[in-house]
Amino acid sequence: MEIKRVCVLGAGLMGHGIAQVCAQVGKFEVNMRDIEQPFIDTGMKMINDSLQRFVKKGTMTERESQEVRGRIHPTLDLTEAVQDADLVIEAITENPPLKKAVLSEVDKHAPPHAIIASNTSSISITEIGGATKRPEKVCGMHFFNPPQLMRLIEIIRGLKTSDDTVEVIKSVSTKLGKECVVVKKDTPGFIVNRILVPALNEAVFLVEEGVADPEDIDKAVMLGLNWPMGPLKLIDYVGADTNLFITGVMVNETGDQKFRPSTLLRQMVRGNLLGRKTGKGFYDWSEKK
Ligand code: CAA
Ligand code: NAD
Repeated sequence: MEIKRVCVLGAGLMGHGIAQVCAQVGKFEVNMRDIEQPFIDTGMKMINDSLQRFVKKGTMTERESQEVRGRIHPTLDLTEAVQDADLVIEAITENPPLKKAVLSEVDKHAPPHAIIASNTSSISITEIGGATKRPEKVCGMHFFNPPQLMRLIEIIRGLKTSDDTVEVIKSVSTKLGKECVVVKKDTPGFIVNRILVPALNEAVFLVEEGVADPEDIDKAVMLGLNWPMGPLKLIDYVGADTNLFITGVMVNETGDQKFRPSTLLRQMVRGNLLGRKTGKGFYDWSEKK
């Protein structure tokens, strides 16, 4: 099946980047949908900022960046967003009931041949697929943050995902310039987050227990493990709310306390200290800094 038009649901930290990669590298026409104009505006601003970085670096011309922008069609209307899409990539908030409700609507308005891929970090693809009448055409397509730079896509098979669907997503991933791995079993956190989530949680416990300052915890992991950024900065980067959602799904699904979030992470979410997206988390991300 040839993919020409992609719909990305969500213009947030991931959705904007996925839409950009689809338009920039895949050269697809992209409908990008969010629920309120300010979210679309922020998403488009993040796309413009990112494109400008490529232009500044000399890896893209100003004209090419305009062409990329021209292939991205923002909208608030779900029906308009999905009705002519060959592939829908869902990148909305990490909330199982919300994702299921939205995908059930998508299923009603997307063409019958369209594949529905979810960028979920932790939620069961089988569960998400069950909200549609086409579970064989539903799979996980897990990008990493920032999607413009990170090279991996995890492709997750739900119990009913067909071989054809996995093959199409593999070829789209290649067209997007990404490497992919296939997660054969629909398991919470897939490969990367199964490993990452306990590590990020432990970093927050270290802060909560007063073992070291956030800067020193990050410095230790960067220099001791050669991570490009420390775990607390990474939580700020991903969003404390998204991290908390992910741990919630993983604890609920597995019952395993190794995925449990600390009280501090919960308090940070309650205090809107979400990191980069609200300007403050473990670090100060306000304009001037
Ligand atoms: N678009 C385009 N270019 C960008 C960019 C963007 N959004 N963000 C950064 N860049 C460019 C910068 O312009 C800079 O370019 P030059 O080298 O030409 O100057 C380069 O990337 C490096 O950026 P910075 O100097 O600002 O910062 P950095 O060296 O720390 O790199 C980073 C940034 C690539 C994000 C790096 O810190 C990194 O790899 N961090 C770890 C990211 C990671 O682990 N992601 C996975 C998160 S987990 C996940 O995604 C799964 C989940 O389900 C939660
Ligand atoms: P985010 O909070 O930055 O963005 C979510 C966006 O979805 C918001 O703009 C919100 O308005 C929008 N939204 C909510 N309901 C919607 C609907 N019905 N239709 C369209 N848009 C809707 O979150 P994010 O970090 O971009 O995460 C999105 C998804 O990607 C989640 O499933 C998350 O687990 C996953 N993910 C996140 C990261 C990360 O590092 N943040 C990495 C990989 C995967």
